[in-house]
Amino acid sequence: MKDFENNMCICYHNFMNIDKLKKEIDLELGKLKTDADCVAFHQKYLSKSGEVTLLMTSLRDIEPSKRAEAGATFNALKKQTEERLFKTQREIKEREQYMKLMAEPVIDITRGGMGGNAPYGLHPITIISREVEDVFMNMGFVIEDGNEIATEYECFDSLNSPAGHPSRDMQDTFWLSDGRCLRTQTSAWQNYMMKKYGPVFKAICPGRTYRNENLDATHDTTFFQVEGMMIGEDISISNLIYFMKQALTAVFKRDIKVRLRPGYFPFVEPGFELDASCIFCKDGCPICKGTGWIEFCGCGMIHPHVLREGGIDPTKYQGFAFGFGLTRLAMMRWGIKDIRLFNSGNLEFLKGGAK
Ligand code: DAH
Repeated sequence: MKDFENNMCICYHNFMNIDKLKKEIDLELGKLKTDADCVAFHQKYLSKSGEVTLLMTSLRDIEPSKRAEAGATFNALKKQTEERLFKTQREIKEREQYMKLMAEPVIDITRGGMGGNAPYGLHPITIISREVEDVFMNMGFVIEDGNEIATEYECFDSLNSPAGHPSRDMQDTFWLSDGRCLRTQTSAWQNYMMKKYGPVFKAICPGRTYRNENLDATHDTTFFQVEGMMIGEDISISNLIYFMKQALTAVFKRDIKVRLRPGYFPFVEPGFELDASCIFCKDGCPICKGTGWIEFCGCGMIHPHVLREGGIDPTKYQGFAFGFGLTRLAMMRWGIKDIRLFNSGNLEFLKGGAK
C-alpha cells in the first residue's frame, strides 16, 4: 500500500513536473566530471529504479486518455537523456585516457643508445657521425652532405678512374637507368667540393654509401663513410698525419698513434693505408692480430689530375684526402660483430643489447 502510494506520488509528481525534471537532468549532466559520476547519474535516472524509468512504469496509473501523450513524452526524455549521458561519458573516458597517457613517463629521444639502460636510443651511426662531425668542426672543417646518387663522373671519372680502370672492379654498385649510380664511396663528393669551395678549404662529408656485395658479418650493401679533404698552399703529409692523429684521439678519447703504409687509390699520389694504434690492447691482441695496429683508413695527397678536374691548379695548391668507414668505426667503438645489424631495424640493437 505504501509502495503504491509512493509510486502514485512519484508518478504524479514527475508527470506534473516533467519540466522540472528536465531542468534537473540538464543541471546534473553539466556537473558530470568522472566516469564514476556518470555511473551514479545512470543509477539515479536511467536504471530500473531510476527516476526517468519510473515515469514509464507509472504510465498505467495515468488516466487512459492521457497515456499515449505522456508515454511519448517520457520516451523522448529517456532516449534524449541516455544519448546525452553516453556522449558525455565517452568524452570523459577519452579525456581520462589522455590524462593518463600524459602522466606516463615521456620518451626522451635525446637519451643516447648503445649502452646505458636507455630503453630507446639514437642509431649508432647517428651517434658516431655526430661525434666525428664535432671533432672535425672543432678543427675548422666544414661539414657537407653529399648526394647518395652520383654521376659516373663524380664517382669514378673525376677521381682518376676512367671507364675500364681496374679499380672500378672492386666497387660494383647499383645503377639507375639514366646512367647515374648509388655512390660507392663518399669520395664521389670531392669534385663537387673543389668546385664549390675553390682552392683553399677543409671539409668532411659523412654519409651513406652502397656496393653490390655478398652479405656477411663484415659486408653489407649499405654502409657509411666519412670523406675528408684539406686543400691549400703548402699542404703536406705532415698535415695529414697531424689531423688524423688529433681526430682519432678525440674520437677514441685516448692518445692514438698513427702510421702510414703505402697504399693504392687512383685519386691520391702518394696513397696510403693509415693504421691506428690498437685501442683494445697495449702490445698485441686478437683484434689487432698481435701487431698493436689496426688498419683504419685510406688516405693520401690528392692526385694532380683530381685537383685539375676540380678546377684547382695543382702547381699552386696541394691537399690531402682521407676516407674511412663510419660503420666500421661504430663496430670498433661498441664491439659490434655483425654489420648487418645496422640496417636490421632490431630494437635490441638500438638499446645496446644485440651485438
Ligand atoms: N674511397 C676509398 C674507399 O672507399 C677510401 C679512400 C681512400 C678515400 C683514400 C680517400 C683516400 O679520400 O684518399 O675505399
